[in-house]
Amino acid sequence: MGWLLNLPVSLWRRLLLIGQGLGALAMLIGTGLKALSGSGATFADRLKAELSSPVSQRRAFALLRLVQPNLVLRTRFITSYPNTGTAVTSRRADVLEVLSRDEDFGVVYGPRMETITGGENFFLGMANTARYTRDVSNMRLAVRRDDVASLVKPMVAGSAAELVAAAPGRIDVPQALTLPTAARLLETYFGTPGPSQAEIADWTTTLFWYLFIDLKADPALDARAEASAAAFRDWLDAWIVARKGESGAKDDIIGRCLAMQAGGLPGMSDRDIRNNLIGLMIGELPTTSAAANLALDELLDRPEALAGACAAARADDDDRLAAYLFEALRFRPLNPLIYRRALRDTAIAAGRLRARRIPEGTMVMASNLSAMFDPLEIPHPTDFSIDRPWEVYVLWGYGLHACFGAYLNRVTIPTMLKPLLARPGLRRAAGPEGRLDLAGTPFPVHLHLEFDR
Ligand code: HEM
Repeated sequence: MGWLLNLPVSLWRRLLLIGQGLGALAMLIGTGLKALSGSGATFADRLKAELSSPVSQRRAFALLRLVQPNLVLRTRFITSYPNTGTAVTSRRADVLEVLSRDEDFGVVYGPRMETITGGENFFLGMANTARYTRDVSNMRLAVRRDDVASLVKPMVAGSAAELVAAAPGRIDVPQALTLPTAARLLETYFGTPGPSQAEIADWTTTLFWYLFIDLKADPALDARAEASAAAFRDWLDAWIVARKGESGAKDDIIGRCLAMQAGGLPGMSDRDIRNNLIGLMIGELPTTSAAANLALDELLDRPEALAGACAAARADDDDRLAAYLFEALRFRPLNPLIYRRALRDTAIAAGRLRARRIPEGTMVMASNLSAMFDPLEIPHPTDFSIDRPWEVYVLWGYGLHACFGAYLNRVTIPTMLKPLLARPGLRRAAGPEGRLDLAGTPFPVHLHLEFDR
């Protein structure tokens, strides 16, 4: 008899789509009026600031899902990678379709990956080729899923507990907890400490920015990225030589890579190991720290959810704590959009009313943020709920290039925040210091919190 319910449920979801879209339109008009009547910077700057907030982004996507789920424009918004125009995809089914169709929608990062390594691509920048499979498989032999419970969790828990214990009732979360914890994981688990924590954090952060966020190809940033990449390559080349000269094998990621090289595995020359490790280290440090801060910041704006997460941390209930943090990240994913370039003339949502033709060369922005709020597929999408099935979350990609570190992320983020969330009376510091400060970068640089000792 369940089928009898299909019609009303389907109608209800369509009504929600309409209601949320129209509600979002009204709120966005309000935002525009607020920017119009504000003072200080120019109207355009005020409007940009208002519209770039996470809540405005969610509203813009609610409107797009209703009125133009697949928006196609001739304008080129991205200049860092070649393209002929822009499309924005907002319905969940279409976002997942784009990220699943590697033959039609390809990754674009190859040229910048080659700049970083001094000539070679890294597997995130590759199409679905034999070389892609070889490189990913090699690195999966080195970064093993078993390690998450046996090595990574204890390492992160130990670092985070020590760092929070050293904070006297007040902590600048990115500087004193999340960046050092992510850097220590590179030191202990990867076996690649860099010349200093500050330098490895700077290199990986600048290169992540260059690859994924520098969409307008800012010449000053690009010059900094090239200098960081050269220093990173030199350091890692020398480090690999030094590690090979050491007696006794170490069971860390670089040690495993060297063991695979000694066993004659293809794709594991010194240069290959260096390039793969650069890619993984860029993936690990800035992202883990940034995502942890975004989740925390979102919780701090939701007193009930914050209390629930703190109670879970104190009760040692790791699954429940993780559920709070990943639901918080649903509202503030680090990457709200994932982009691909159309490799040929094609269509999205073919055969549906919302189908759109996508000319070859179009940069397609598939919004994973929007996919996680689509009322046609996600029950009660605007509620903060810790009971959602994991499949709802598209926090770090989907399909072939879904995040290599996905299993790590599910443990590192809750584990590094747990000792802080377990502190009594956790709250924002007074004034602007208690607000997330990006300090002119796309990443959380400061967030001062206080707690009772
Ligand atoms: C919370 C932290 C993280 C976030 C938000 C994140 C985000 C993402 C996203 C959105 C993608 C897909 C990119 C695309 O399809 O264009 C991705 C892929 C990737 N990530 Fe992560 N990531 C995180 C942590 C990590 C960690 C810890 C590592 C390394 C251990 C890592 C390494 C990679 C790699 C190598 C890929 C490419 C996978 C492939 O091409 O098959 N990431 N990540």
